[in-house]
Amino acid sequence: MAKGQRLDKVLSNMGYGTRKEIKSIIKKGRVKVDEKVIKDSSMHIDPYENHIEIDGVKLVYREFVYIMMNKPQGVISATFDARVETVVDLLDPAYHIFEAFPVGRLDKDTEGLLILTNDGKLSHELLAPKKHVPKTYYAHIEGRVDDKDQIAFKKGVTLDDGYKTLPAELNIMKSDEISEIELTIYEGKFHQVKRMFESVGKKVTYLKRIAMGDLKLDKDLELGEYKELTEEELKKLKNR
Ligand code: URA
Repeated sequence: MAKGQRLDKVLSNMGYGTRKEIKSIIKKGRVKVDEKVIKDSSMHIDPYENHIEIDGVKLVYREFVYIMMNKPQGVISATFDARVETVVDLLDPAYHIFEAFPVGRLDKDTEGLLILTNDGKLSHELLAPKKHVPKTYYAHIEGRVDDKDQIAFKKGVTLDDGYKTLPAELNIMKSDEISEIELTIYEGKFHQVKRMFESVGKKVTYLKRIAMGDLKLDKDLELGEYKELTEEELKKLKNR
């Protein structure tokens, strides 16, 4: 059984404690692999093939992880960067074995809903341009946002590189020197929300993603916090 993953790593990945705690559980003879008590935490196992038990309870290994993060400003949507903190750096080391990556990108100064997963198929489906997955943003805009902007966004605006955006829904919550809006877009061009407002002569000063597909950012998550999606939330994300 040389291939596979270390027993202590698999168990810590499944939330049974830190590697140190798991080593102690294993030493006490509480863990069985294929009906045999195992005392060596470095033993390599295949979590899909081997039957693992703790205190007589069979474990079911999971392949994928789905995380909802309330991304704070100042971190980048990447898995690794030598200089800047990334969203993956914010995850507990117990999650590192999953090799989760962010689904798409939020700018360094954008906050809000970011999904991290190791499910490449779902990520692809959410990002594929043809799928038109809606993304809703809450933003503060320098300048009075009005119905002219609403109409322009509904028709589609031309960005600085000549690209014409798909129709988008603009909801004006406050029209003032600093306006408050919600915007739903059906694509994900680079800096899209900021560039859409630039195209109508206005500037985004604060940006937060609040929904993706039918999935809304959990209001209980503080900036920088994350949680695994519930079955229901995952269904909302997959229901496309
Ligand atoms: N649009 C932007 O301009 N920035 C983001 O981070 C997301 C959408």
